[in-house]
Amino acid sequence: MASRSAKPAKSRKRSSGKKVSAAAKKKALTKRSATKLRAAAPNTDGNKPKLYASLVAQLLSLLKGEHDFIANAANFSALLFNSLPNVNWAGFYFLQGDELVLGPFQGNPACVRLPLGKGVCGVAAQQCETIIVPNVHEFPGHIACDVASNSEIVVPLFDGERLLGVLDLDSPTIGRFDDQDAEGLNELVTVFVAHEEGLGV
Ligand code: SME
Repeated sequence: MASRSAKPAKSRKRSSGKKVSAAAKKKALTKRSATKLRAAAPNTDGNKPKLYASLVAQLLSLLKGEHDFIANAANFSALLFNSLPNVNWAGFYFLQGDELVLGPFQGNPACVRLPLGKGVCGVAAQQCETIIVPNVHEFPGHIACDVASNSEIVVPLFDGERLLGVLDLDSPTIGRFDDQDAEGLNELVTVFVAHEEGLGV
């Protein structure tokens, strides 16, 4: 946790002699962060195939030279969370025995263990197929981790025939995910797993 100064925040004098108030500094920082985030998100004008092609290139660049599985999965989830519009949760659940256990993700804290065959993730993992749920409130047994989520897509991850787990994305928008998302996300997880292959994950 960041340490706190004992003194209250005050305006400080810089070497230029210009006073910068705490509020102005905060504004400048917020603006810089927002610009950085916008710059990271590719401008693909709502063209999903173009967006996913750009994400494949960005993922390859993030993975290049790095073979730490957790670090790569964490960066992969951050890439998706910050680049895909209308997504409130993006992350992994990995198979351990007969349950899925929470892996790296972006979004609100989530349920840690999901039984195979239960919820969208458990069903996608058990059936070994991508599941698109336009309205999670109509999915029997849906496990609600974030009340903001209204639609969901779950993509299983395989190392050859072996199920590793699932990639899960939630959206507050009903009907957010379609076949183009399924195709793009499947390509991304294929790139991810191919990179990690041979690491004994
Ligand atoms: N909704 C999921 C649970 C995981 S959270 O969405 C992060 C499910 O029904 O499996």
